[in-house]
Amino acid sequence: MAGTETHRFKQWQLSTTLGIDGLNLVKDASITQIGDEEVLVEMHAASLNFLDLFVARGGQPGTLKQMPNPGLVPGCDGCGIIKAVGAAVKKFATGDRVVTHLIGRIPDDAKDDFTSLRSSLGIGTNGTLTQYGIFHESNIVHAPRSLSFDQAATLPCSGLTAYNALFGLGGRQIQENQWVLVQGTGGVSVAALQIAVAVGAHVVATTSSAEKAVKLEGLGAKHVLNYRDTPEWGLPARALTPGQAGFDHVVDIGGEATLGESVKAVKTDGVVSTIGLLGGPTDRQVPMMAVLHNACTVRGLVAGTRQQMRDFVAFVDEKGMKPTLDDMVFGIEDARKAYWRQGRQQHFSKVVIKLHD
Ligand SMILES: NC(=O)c1ccc[n+]([C@@H]2O[C@H](COP(=O)([O-])OP(=O)(O)OC[C@H]3O[C@@H](n4cnc5c(N)ncnc54)[C@H](OP(=O)(O)O)[C@@H]3O)[C@@H](O)[C@H]2O)c1
Repeated sequence: MAGTETHRFKQWQLSTTLGIDGLNLVKDASITQIGDEEVLVEMHAASLNFLDLFVARGGQPGTLKQMPNPGLVPGCDGCGIIKAVGAAVKKFATGDRVVTHLIGRIPDDAKDDFTSLRSSLGIGTNGTLTQYGIFHESNIVHAPRSLSFDQAATLPCSGLTAYNALFGLGGRQIQENQWVLVQGTGGVSVAALQIAVAVGAHVVATTSSAEKAVKLEGLGAKHVLNYRDTPEWGLPARALTPGQAGFDHVVDIGGEATLGESVKAVKTDGVVSTIGLLGGPTDRQVPMMAVLHNACTVRGLVAGTRQQMRDFVAFVDEKGMKPTLDDMVFGIEDARKAYWRQGRQQHFSKVVIKLHD
């Protein structure tokens, strides 16, 4: 097919060796053919998620450790330009700028879960850490017009999840002047902060780092609490809201370690979105009385639908939201260093890997 003749190019692959050092750089990858419903994308940038580290270390959604899929291209987030389209592709054309969407081949409004996540880009389907990638057309959406490749590459996993947390529950979409609490300075949390600020909401954030606290304030956080100095931050955070009424939205990425504080901080009838388990296991129990007392909704969610991804892209263009990148941006050959930076939690917001100069 015309347009698919690429030079030999660089591509990362998962190997049978667990861990970040098991990632394998192939320097002579090639593409010969694309299917009728597929597109060939010249990839310009990818960004990392906690999920990518989890997969490299042998994790699979909802299961215990197992060997990664050897030869599979890792990475779920990326942005590039279409170089060729299959005969049956209707919604995309050569030259379109696109971002990836984690889970393909399900309807636009189908909610993700751990079963569908196992087939997602970088887990069960070839992902984004490649200079050229073939994707099913349901695994891409048009990129925002207002963002660079690097910025747009941050949207698919953590960005969409943050958007779903704040807009995904019918009747409870975030509104101007509401109060939102975000935890830590990873990709999901900084995206949630930026989305909230873009709609005119007030944000309180937590972090373990004084240096990162300054960056959070620079992005518009009204108050920042250090969750190491104040492990029981729920009521102190609540005290920062008008009338100590609590938060309309709490975006919880810590799981068992943070949920107890989240339900103390949330407003009556507010929403706690439970997204991740970064805090690890703990002996602390979730105070169920706080859940009842605040009559809150605790909502688990997995990424977001393809339609939500399109809505998020439109939101970004309309609001002029510029996703925050970590201070360090890596080249394709240094992808392992990028993984290590994220794995050591040295990053702020999104670690980006440039795939073409
Ligand atoms: N449900 C879904 O669909 C979905 C989608 C995306 C991500 N996730 C999950 O959400 C979590 C975050 O993902 P990510 O990609 O944003 O991760 P990330 O960028 O690697 O986030 C790392 C940051 O989290 C913060 N953190 C760690 N433990 C914390 C704690 N106990 N309290 C508060 N903050 C803490 C730290 O911030 P400081 O350095 O500032 O302390 C750390 O730098 C992960 O568990 C991931 O698996 C779930």
